[in-house]
Amino acid sequence: MDSSGFFLRSHTEVSAQPSFTFLYAPQKNMTRRLLIAGNWKMNLTLAAALELVEGLKKEAASVTDVDIAVCPPSIYVQPVAAALKGTNIGVGAQNAYFEKEGAFTGEVSMGMLTDVGCRYVILGHSERRNVLGESSEMVNVKVHAALDAGLIPIVCVGELLKEREAGTTEQVVRRQFDGSCSGLTADQMAKCVIAYEPVWAIGTGKVATPDQAEEVHAAIRKMIEKNFGQDVAEVVRIQYGGSVNDKNAKEILAKPNVDGALVGGASLKVASFMGIVRPS
Ligand code: PGA
Repeated sequence: MDSSGFFLRSHTEVSAQPSFTFLYAPQKNMTRRLLIAGNWKMNLTLAAALELVEGLKKEAASVTDVDIAVCPPSIYVQPVAAALKGTNIGVGAQNAYFEKEGAFTGEVSMGMLTDVGCRYVILGHSERRNVLGESSEMVNVKVHAALDAGLIPIVCVGELLKEREAGTTEQVVRRQFDGSCSGLTADQMAKCVIAYEPVWAIGTGKVATPDQAEEVHAAIRKMIEKNFGQDVAEVVRIQYGGSVNDKNAKEILAKPNVDGALVGGASLKVASFMGIVRPS
């Protein structure tokens, strides 16, 4: 389906995992490769970004069974993509506009991102939804534009603390998912990544428990199944995001419906990011 075919390859084919993996982790779905993506947000200078990239390049060179990506601020996407060309680390943007070109002062198009070697784009991050007022309708047109441009959208959903406390988490996530992924074909949905990021866990040090994450991830997979069918639900990767670090990653990533992490603060240092890629 995708040019890289990554969601058609089984974990065993690409990583040559010994078969005992299945005995020790029978619950983990082996057809979805983990995707660990660093969301640098509005941090780092160009020099610091390139230094981080050099460190990651060295440490990640031997990783063959996990997809890795970094998402710099848009102004650094081009130099970071150039520095990572030919490596096993992909580059993503944190946002882009849905129009192809024209009089949209201050915006960057999806096509411009692919033009400079970008592969992913984070869409609907809670900071864009809640700080910048982005609606699911806006996210939806961006998801379509990203796919049209050949990018892999990382579509973020997640509830506020008051919504969790009111018991409306699933309702909120369903509304965001339905709105953001509306009108996609099954093939298009299969190309997307969903990131479940409870807003109360982002940048707070208050990580969701592995069980809390798994419960929502399983619910999201059911939503995908309902709207797009079981085959699609089986291949879509659902990342968890919100205070993931090298200490808590292993337990969360072991959950059957958690297929990776979207990492903010801990992605700004080589050791902490690589400690999530290779949790001990
Ligand atoms: P955090 O951010 O890891 O710093 O909580 C995650 C995110 O917002 O993607």
